[in-house]
Amino acid sequence: MHNLGILLSGRGSNFIAIADSIDAVRIPNARIAVVISNKADVAGIETAKQRGIKALVIPSKGVPREEHDRAVVAALKENSVEWICLAGYLRLLSPWLVQQFPQRILNIHPSLLPAFPGLDAQKQAFDYGVKVSGCTVHFVDEQLDHGAIILQKTVPVLDTDDDRTLAARILEQEHVAYSEAINIVLGGRYKVAGRRLIQG
Ligand code: GRF
Repeated sequence: MHNLGILLSGRGSNFIAIADSIDAVRIPNARIAVVISNKADVAGIETAKQRGIKALVIPSKGVPREEHDRAVVAALKENSVEWICLAGYLRLLSPWLVQQFPQRILNIHPSLLPAFPGLDAQKQAFDYGVKVSGCTVHFVDEQLDHGAIILQKTVPVLDTDDDRTLAARILEQEHVAYSEAINIVLGGRYKVAGRRLIQG
């Protein structure tokens, strides 16, 4: 059984999708050991509590990045976390934190990276006029939205879309993609060669 730690800052729909996958045995060999938010009073923390999952708030406002990250890592280690899933965690990780969990931190981003990193990726893509967008699950390295790609899912941009309808359809795919990516890494049958993750 692998221990996952979820870091989030908001509504937590990707966290819920992962928790649902575990409950439905679509992710057969993992449990969520702890959910940590850097913001108080967010839906993701409420949901975790309702589901009986350990939930912690470690406030980040006004705290130097690495000092906050040291508190987060202490909580992750206390809960024996092996794999970290960023799920709408709106805070850059310090290089120090990334180095504590090399190739063990996953993130989901709502675009086909390397297109449209950063905030409001769905609106960036929509405004750019792309015909296809999607989502990316990737390892986290020291750069924003940058590490090796685990998997991507495409979503067509329809003529009838606005940025919100596009974001909603991407989110549906995010919820599928994250669990698939977790199964890939927990399965262990992959290698990372340069930027390329190769399965088998
Ligand atoms: C998702 O769109 C995710 O791709 C991005 O932040 C959003 C988080 O949504 N990194 P939720 O909190 O998981 O619902």
